[in-house]
Amino acid sequence: MDAQVAPLFAPLTIRSLTLRNRVVMAPMTRSFSPLGVPGADVAAYYRRRAEGETGLLITEGVGVDHPAALGDAGLKEADLPHMYGEAALAAWRAVVEGVHAEHGVIFPQLWHQGVMRKAGTGPHPQAPSCRPSGLWGPTGRTTSLAADDVATCAIPTTPMTQTEIADVIAAYGRSARNAMEVGFDGIAIHGAHGYLPDNFLWEETNQRTDRWGGDRRRRSEFAVEVVKTIRAVVGARRPVVFRFSQWKQQDFRARLANTPQELEEILGPISDAGVDVFDASVRYFNRAEFEGSPLNLAGWAKKLTGKLSMAVGGIGLNKGVYDSKRDGAAAAAYNFEALMERFTRGEFDLVEVGRSLLHDPHWTRKVRLGEQLGEFNEESLKVLR
Ligand SMILES: Cc1cc2nc3c(=O)[nH]c(=O)nc-3n(C[C@H](O)[C@H](O)[C@H](O)COP(=O)(O)O)c2cc1C
Repeated sequence: MDAQVAPLFAPLTIRSLTLRNRVVMAPMTRSFSPLGVPGADVAAYYRRRAEGETGLLITEGVGVDHPAALGDAGLKEADLPHMYGEAALAAWRAVVEGVHAEHGVIFPQLWHQGVMRKAGTGPHPQAPSCRPSGLWGPTGRTTSLAADDVATCAIPTTPMTQTEIADVIAAYGRSARNAMEVGFDGIAIHGAHGYLPDNFLWEETNQRTDRWGGDRRRRSEFAVEVVKTIRAVVGARRPVVFRFSQWKQQDFRARLANTPQELEEILGPISDAGVDVFDASVRYFNRAEFEGSPLNLAGWAKKLTGKLSMAVGGIGLNKGVYDSKRDGAAAAAYNFEALMERFTRGEFDLVEVGRSLLHDPHWTRKVRLGEQLGEFNEESLKVLR
């Protein structure tokens, strides 16, 4: 074992589940599931990551059982998987069985695209997209989305009704139940990047004056209800992970919180609703989140809530997601010294790895053994390696 990274290979128990190490595969949309159903190739893809010793696999975003959960969300996604219906559930069962056969642990990332879903797209094109206040967000900000897409999306629509909000929360519950029935080990909730739970958290997309809007605490109410609903389904023994981010696809520089206190106002109620692990999505793990402290966003999530947290962003690579998208490649970077310095101080409990693991299914084992790591290039996205 490479001594520098040895602490990453200590097991971690979360509720009744023990992970063999602290390395987590980050959720990554791959669009290889025709009609929402992951095939044998997808099952083999996840199984290889368990074989490669990754402690916890979080799947790509998986649509919840709601007609407006999935569609074209600016990235021209097609073939996105969902968590309902006989065919998809049988397929997910096969995915889970493959991962378990390699002593792996796997959670689905439950996803509702909210305002990011373009009207008229997805498996139910007639369903209106879900927008808390009918708003997509401000235009003219730094975004990877095409200008004509932004112009179309920016046209205001009807705000979600109380019934629609209740229906979506129930959909999260049904999909969490489906996931438990096919054998998943826990649930991850996508509450980041400008999708539905995040649309309620962000004041630019939530200007409601009822129960679901107002100050930061009130804007967290939707996420709270989603977490409570999922906790009720999974019970006391299964972990729940909640992913959040400051940045949004609509606005890379957006911030939900400018101070630790503001972050506490958001995460406190979500934590109390039953989250075990906060997944703080940033592009570079090695950056201080607020002035006056070196803590990164995951560090603050842990400090403010007392829950476990995981750090992500450029682990093993020299460029973050959008920088490598622009340049076409990111070289392997042995940035473990900076990572381990933070990890051994107890800043966070898990490390989450995206592109490195997308490119190389055995990345985690190679890190343990101190073997050479590879670069990531956009070609890796075209295949399920
Ligand atoms: C191809 C691709 C697809 C992604 N899809 C998702 C997704 O479905 N859900 C999500 O929360 N994040 C998604 N992300 C973000 C990753 O989970 C992760 O946060 C990001 O890649 C940073 O980690 P990295 O620098 O190790 O790649 C995606 C990233 C990539 C590269």
